[in-house]
Amino acid sequence: MNWQKSLKGKIKFNEPLKIHTTLRIGGGAKFFIEPRDTEDLKFLLKELKRDNISPLVIGAGSNILANDKGLDCAVLRLNSPNFKKIALQGNRLETGAGITLNKLVDFAQRNGLGGVEFLAGIPGTLGGALIMNAGAWGKNIARLVESVRVISYNNKIKVLKQKDIGFGYRSSGLSKYIILSASLRLAKKKKSAIKERIKGYLRQRMMQQDFSRPSAGCVFKNPKGNAAGRLIDLCGLKGRRIGGACISTKHANFILNQKNAQASDVLKLMQLIRKEVSNKFSINLEPELKIWQ
Ligand code: EPU
Repeated sequence: MNWQKSLKGKIKFNEPLKIHTTLRIGGGAKFFIEPRDTEDLKFLLKELKRDNISPLVIGAGSNILANDKGLDCAVLRLNSPNFKKIALQGNRLETGAGITLNKLVDFAQRNGLGGVEFLAGIPGTLGGALIMNAGAWGKNIARLVESVRVISYNNKIKVLKQKDIGFGYRSSGLSKYIILSASLRLAKKKKSAIKERIKGYLRQRMMQQDFSRPSAGCVFKNPKGNAAGRLIDLCGLKGRRIGGACISTKHANFILNQKNAQASDVLKLMQLIRKEVSNKFSINLEPELKIWQ
């Protein structure tokens, strides 16, 4: 385990994941590591492989349900300034995977570049948004991507073109990689118009979604041609509570950490939802939330 001394970035031991997830749930990660730069990450991946320690990558922790017992693995976060660089090249943004979507939206607005406004208010990082092809208001991030620079768990750096990434609804072919950075194609627009659009999206989000307690946003993907929130609502499940977790009374596809919820409380609510929706509509809801156990 000499690698811990040679690492240039930060390392913490038994770090509670509940402070790194928006649901505020999760036990200790054996190692919680923030590599300093790509070289440091390469070194780390090599050493973890040698020690047989599996790495998991966390962004803003907004789509993760981590178990309460903790994880015997290394959780990696690309949070050093080297992974948050952002630069303009004409109408393109070259940006690190660790940058938050809100910072990205803000940078684009200040530079008169439009196209990313719909991402305003999504509590994620660019890396996380790309892996799950995050979206809102009928748009998703894939449409902006020109290319993505990644490193494989076998330590090979590659640049993938948009058409080779296999983006789908809330999915991509990127989960076998760690995302380093991306090139996004935007369009010149008036700064004031961009600002208004951002405000509109944020307003709509506040109106429709539930921010009263910690959550991970939408728990299930929308089935084709339908909305998970609508189906759960029609099953009369709003407000249903198990332990410290509760289905939002405002948006039925949100599960809230009402009071000291355990991961198992959320999982039980998810099972209940799937069962009821399947019984009533013969539809199998697929989780959007990544479950770490
Ligand atoms: N609805 C209900 N009851 C509810 C919730 C929703 O009847 O409790 C109905 C709404 O009235 C509407 C339909 O279901 O007719 C869709 O609801 P909404 O407009 O709130 O959008 P959504 O499909 O639930 C999707 C994304 C959100 C994104 C919004 C905004 C998914 C799974 N969810 O939600 O993304 O912010 O659109 O465009 O694709 C997320 O991914 O975590 C997320 C929140």
